[in-house]
Amino acid sequence: MIMLDNISARFADRTGGEIEALQSVSLQFAPARFYAIIGPSGSGKTTLLHIIAAILQPSGGTIRVGDLALDTMSEGKRDAWRRHNCGLIFQDFRLIDELGPLDNVLVPAWFTHLRTPAALRERAEALLAHFNVPVRSGPVAALSRGQQQRVAMARALLLEPGIVLADEPTASVDKANAELIIEELHRLARQGKTVICVSHDERVARRADQVFEIEDGQLLAGPRVYPAAHSVEVQL
Ligand SMILES: Nc1ncnc2c1ncn2[C@@H]1O[C@H](COP(=O)(O)OP(=O)(O)OP(=O)(O)O)[C@@H](O)[C@H]1O
Ligand SMILES: [Mg+2]
Repeated sequence: MIMLDNISARFADRTGGEIEALQSVSLQFAPARFYAIIGPSGSGKTTLLHIIAAILQPSGGTIRVGDLALDTMSEGKRDAWRRHNCGLIFQDFRLIDELGPLDNVLVPAWFTHLRTPAALRERAEALLAHFNVPVRSGPVAALSRGQQQRVAMARALLLEPGIVLADEPTASVDKANAELIIEELHRLARQGKTVICVSHDERVARRADQVFEIEDGQLLAGPRVYPAAHSVEVQL
């Protein structure tokens, strides 16, 4: 269980003032659930995801994962925790431009293995094939944004993380690949992972088990209820 209590995030702005990116956000995320976080641009969604990933330290409040208090952990410990537990799909992908898709997907293995085991390489190839990315193309910089987004998705899943954090993972892909990604997120939750997806995409919200909405850094009261996309009324 991931528990955020009264989380705030402040950034310095260019004029010497402060931006309150998040204010008093309290939320919980359970395993085996698919969560969507929606809200307008600039509402604090990425900030929230980065706090959950322990990339960003909150300015106030606490974040706990089970018995671990992420907000008081050293940067080194947070990095290690993230590497072992989180698969992240960044809004801006953060791929290594000069490397090909396969080498990008294998980046998380740099930290866990001196030499990439054959099984991991096979898994990386299978993930790329699953997400319709040519395994042996040139540097990812030459791929389309949609293909780059799917490389980022494959990389996030390489080490089978227990927590999957996705920031607008369908923003750059076509309809068919968006559905593939959403179905994958859904499947991961059914496998027991905690899946949290920030998105503007209504299809994500409809497929999620629970939808949270934030506006101006604040969580709107109560989870938003979306009708299931494929719900059919059965009349007897
Ligand atoms: N590192 C930073 N330094 C200063 N301000 C920041 C920083 N990161 C975010 N902000 C500000 O915090 C607010 C929330 O930003 P955030 O990126 O979390 O929004 P978002 O909901 O993800 O938006 P989008 O949908 O456009 O991705 C914005 O006003 C943004 O300008
Ligand atoms: Mg964002």
